[in-house]
Amino acid sequence: MTEKREVGKRIEELAAEIRRHNDLYYNEGSPEIADSEYDARVRELRALVEEHPDLAPREDPLVAVGAPLRRSKAFAQVSHRVPMLSLESLTSEEEIREFDQKAHRYLAVDVGDEAEAREPFEYSLEPKYDGVSASLLYEKGKLVRGLTRGDGSTGEEITKNLLAVQGVLPSFDAQKAPELVEIRGEVLIPRQRFEELAAEREAQGEIPFRNARNAVAGSLKRLKSEGLESLGMQFLFWGVGDLKGWQDLGSYSQLAERVAGLGFTISPLFTHGTGIEAVLAYHADLELRREELPYEMDGTVAKVDDFGLQHRLGRTAKAPRWALACKFKPRRATSQVLDIGLQVGRTGIVTPVAHLAPVEISGVTVQRATLHNFDLLAERDVRIGDSVIVERAGDVIPEVISVLISERPRDSRPFDVPETCPECHEDLEKEGAFLFCTNIDCPAQIQGRIVHLASRKALDIDRLGRKYVDQLFDAGLVKTVDDIFFLQDHREELLALDRWGEKSYENLVRELDRAREPELPRFLYGLGIRHVGRKVARDLAEAFGSFEALREADEEQLIEIEGVGPVVAREVVRFLESASNRTFLSRLEEAGVRPRSMEIRAGEALPLASQIFVFTGGLETMSRDQARERVESLGAATASGISKRVTTVVAGSKAGSKLDKARKLGLEILDEDGFRSLIEGLE
Ligand code: IVH
Repeated sequence: MTEKREVGKRIEELAAEIRRHNDLYYNEGSPEIADSEYDARVRELRALVEEHPDLAPREDPLVAVGAPLRRSKAFAQVSHRVPMLSLESLTSEEEIREFDQKAHRYLAVDVGDEAEAREPFEYSLEPKYDGVSASLLYEKGKLVRGLTRGDGSTGEEITKNLLAVQGVLPSFDAQKAPELVEIRGEVLIPRQRFEELAAEREAQGEIPFRNARNAVAGSLKRLKSEGLESLGMQFLFWGVGDLKGWQDLGSYSQLAERVAGLGFTISPLFTHGTGIEAVLAYHADLELRREELPYEMDGTVAKVDDFGLQHRLGRTAKAPRWALACKFKPRRATSQVLDIGLQVGRTGIVTPVAHLAPVEISGVTVQRATLHNFDLLAERDVRIGDSVIVERAGDVIPEVISVLISERPRDSRPFDVPETCPECHEDLEKEGAFLFCTNIDCPAQIQGRIVHLASRKALDIDRLGRKYVDQLFDAGLVKTVDDIFFLQDHREELLALDRWGEKSYENLVRELDRAREPELPRFLYGLGIRHVGRKVARDLAEAFGSFEALREADEEQLIEIEGVGPVVAREVVRFLESASNRTFLSRLEEAGVRPRSMEIRAGEALPLASQIFVFTGGLETMSRDQARERVESLGAATASGISKRVTTVVAGSKAGSKLDKARKLGLEILDEDGFRSLIEGLE
């Protein structure tokens, strides 16, 4: 192939790829690659087209912002009153300086404003949030609708879902409100909350989220908004679209202050500084503190603060000339794939994992990286022996994001998609991009099920964490889940194992005795039935009152219960009816396991139904988990942050900014005593 043909081919290839990723990001809400990877492709395409303008792609993905909209059945397509532009991502110091110089040149040459052009710009500075953008239209202080970004000029109407996001106000003080304003910002799930959610999701046997942004994108496109509140999504302001009113405002900083005064959240890291040096210094500092922040960011956004200057600078086809985004260096490194292994989870999900030559990425030694699933493995064509780029995004497991094809050794070996389970050798089944081992007796699944049954939120047996369960399996003391309840009969064998002594044996026996009479919701959750998380477990327990009654229920009866849909009902019945689970349950009975019965509450409106509680500060007489469980069992939901929809805030000792915010919003605030008397009166 001639060089020119090769370049042409590469251009079309990149254009097609970018279009696909635009579509995944904007339309599907499920991006498959990191932003930095996307940006690298855009840069490569732009450079090639600049050099060979005659080879510009037939459908240029860089001309349109975002993806051409596909007709979505679920949400109405609505035009933004002012388009949602994006910003070009700059990565090097030179690029950042050049942006500033270009803007000054533009003012001097094109606008003819030499005096202004000589003065350094005052920049407002804030993090670039790594979330999903949304635009909220308010008329006279009332939310009219909320839109996704879509293709930049038209978005999808997701108002109901957005109302479940903390910081999205249904209305604000009409006195202070402008005639009309499009409030724009980013929806995020704080890092810590995301980790909790990821763990809950795993516990429920759901397909794992790829990362926090993905979780937000998917959640905002849910067809039902019920339950979205509990995800703890937050809205952070970063700008306005259309604005009628507030003509006294002269700068973005003043605007941000006014918007904060209405109750929207502005980053505490918001500041301003003079000249491009201030931008560079802020960016360098933010990059160092990146890990300390409660949510994911991927860089800095700097805006020329003065509205007059913004107006004179204007915009290009795609981005404003007055704002720049500087991206952080990706937390990436190159390593070699020594092997590809398989991990079998509790639910039988089989995940390919790359074993890597140890490599340090921002202070952490990485030796394993997930390949997510077999479709992605095939698409990225990762082979044993390959040099690969590994990225750590936040605190999630590092992932292999691409292969350095030019460095592929001759003897690199593709990984064959397994047909059988690496642990039990039974056939695997494909479900979407995922493979599952469906053998309920698979040892890897059994180990996972024991760890889950013994976990803190289920039967809470201290000595049965992952390490000990592995040890007990290796020693042959446990082969099935119910075997744990016979461990007291193996005193001698246990005492012969590492890290076991008389005391730990006695502790285990005591904990097992306690676990033989579990609360029903904990027991049901601990069984690890697919889609049965803690909330469904509680709904089931409250509807049936006893395990025996639940075992007799059929799918129709289950579907009648609030919070239980057909998918959950089917899984519950399937679980209880399978032959091996029947054996398992009767063995539990033999071992003396009797879940406690409880009062039936279904049908009655629970006393705290439709209330939302937030706990802040430390409680003395119970843990926060216990407090949450108690209000949830009375029908309330709990949230992690303050918003107008929160009904009650329980403030323990050392309650901080949440309490201040609750006071500002005039929410009901209870101290620990007040809280106890409330729930004790209702329980
Ligand atoms: S300002 C005219 N500020 O990044 C566009 N955007 O590439 C003004 N983003 O569309 C955008 N944090 O989705 C701005 N602090 C921030 C941001 C931010 C995240 C997103 C937003 C925007 C994209 C720009």
